[in-house]
Amino acid sequence: MSNQLCIVLDFGGQYNQLIARRVRECGVYCEIKRFDTPISEIKAMKPTAIIFTGGPNSVYDPASPHISKEIFEIGVPILGICYGCQLMAYTLGGKVESCEKSEYGKIEIDQNTDSLIFRDVPEKSIVWMSHTDFVSQLPEGFSVTAKSQDCPCAAFEAPERKLYAVQFHPEVTHSEFGKQILHNFLYNVCGCTGDWVMNDFIENTVKKLREQIGDKKVILGLSGGVDSSVAAGLLSRAVGKQLTCVFVDQGLMRKDEGDFVEETFTKLFDMNFVRVNCKDKFLAALKGVTDPEQKRKIIGTEFYNVFWDKIREQGTDGFFAQGTIYPDRIESGRGNQAGHGSTAVIKTHHNMVKMPDDIKFAGTIEPLGDLFKDEVRAVGEKLGIPHDLVWRQPFPGPGLGVRIIGEITEEKIKILQEADAVFRDEIRKSGIEEQLKQFFAVLPDVRTVGVMGDHRTYDHLIAIRAVTTDDFMTADWARIPYDVLAKVSNRLCNEVEHVNRVVYDITSKPPGTVEWE
Ligand code: XMP
Repeated sequence: MSNQLCIVLDFGGQYNQLIARRVRECGVYCEIKRFDTPISEIKAMKPTAIIFTGGPNSVYDPASPHISKEIFEIGVPILGICYGCQLMAYTLGGKVESCEKSEYGKIEIDQNTDSLIFRDVPEKSIVWMSHTDFVSQLPEGFSVTAKSQDCPCAAFEAPERKLYAVQFHPEVTHSEFGKQILHNFLYNVCGCTGDWVMNDFIENTVKKLREQIGDKKVILGLSGGVDSSVAAGLLSRAVGKQLTCVFVDQGLMRKDEGDFVEETFTKLFDMNFVRVNCKDKFLAALKGVTDPEQKRKIIGTEFYNVFWDKIREQGTDGFFAQGTIYPDRIESGRGNQAGHGSTAVIKTHHNMVKMPDDIKFAGTIEPLGDLFKDEVRAVGEKLGIPHDLVWRQPFPGPGLGVRIIGEITEEKIKILQEADAVFRDEIRKSGIEEQLKQFFAVLPDVRTVGVMGDHRTYDHLIAIRAVTTDDFMTADWARIPYDVLAKVSNRLCNEVEHVNRVVYDITSKPPGTVEWE
């Protein structure tokens, strides 16, 4: 990697990935490393900048994560954020105490705009604070550069040593000039030049992939999701027909989605595309099953049985590729081991699946292993992958299987596919699509009485669900305007056969989950 590097040292804060994303948005390549990464390793990575994250602990608690003083002597500029700010002060001989009044939320601070990190920031601004400790005495050689009403030391620095610290969270959007402050640190203090550009990424990756793959074959499991699609696009550009994409269509995708995926990849890209249609096999395995966990298990198991069989058929004398992205690697605790070994772990949403012992590839390739989701999308756009695929909302691995409550039948799949397509169409037309993170229809196992013309009906209920969220860990139900809901309801009852009632799900997460099963 020839890019300038910013290392985010992770002290356990909840916004750590956000810090790394913001740094990347500033055009600087960034990696998250654990706080206890040996200093020698950090030095060997030749970082241009280091950022200490926040964390839930108190620095004066001996059990909290600490760092050797040596880090301040390696000559790389450091920015400490929240806990990282207190740690910098504490480690260098300052004092940290519990606040009389903790600060939480949006707080106004006064800042010294002569500081390199507060350039182009007004003298007063709103920042996001979340702390119960504060720096009560600075280490020698440091001076205060910002304060709030309750925090005398909201930012401080020792510019000749290139050490900077902020008590607040510049990475959070509630901090009005947070991005500017991070940008200032990276560019004004560290001398970053912004060499992390997606066009370069594509070119460099294609070159690296060609070198790595040589004349061998590559197999990639395509799900129709963003990550595997973009990985396929990159690999196709690198090695063309040496790439085979296997697309297992279990019949539980949204209306026409399987055809759309097939058309996209066969028309736009040079590769071998293998589609396995196995709806009947799945329906047979799911016959009579109503328990949500059992349904998920059957769908997962069947999927991999079909997938591995196809892989065996295609041959394993080459590489196995998958669309793992950077957050998957962090979450899975694999840290920085870029996936270029032969790690036989398969990415799925909620778990990692082991590859069967008899399937052995020369190695695993994860071309997106260093990217965040928004970067994956940017690469996808540049590769010419259609907007609908690049911006596709999350879709659960078990597909519509977790949105059909009770037994899954062919008839129910058809009703739900039609209803979901109508709902999506109406949301698109209403112009509110961008505000929603995910929206879909659900088919509960409920029939109700209705009336149509002069006839009594006894037919299906459709539930619609739309959520807003930052990270899917929590979510709120979306306040869709009533007139949009009215149109959706009208169209669902009129256009979708066997639907005679519509309800809107107004449960947030928690206590609900986004999906119904
Ligand atoms: P829940 O229902 O857990 O959903 O609140 C949170 C997000 O995860 C998606 N989801 C899944 N994605 N495989 C996936 O790839 C799954 O089994 C799965 N279950 C839920 C869900 O659509 C939402 O975006």
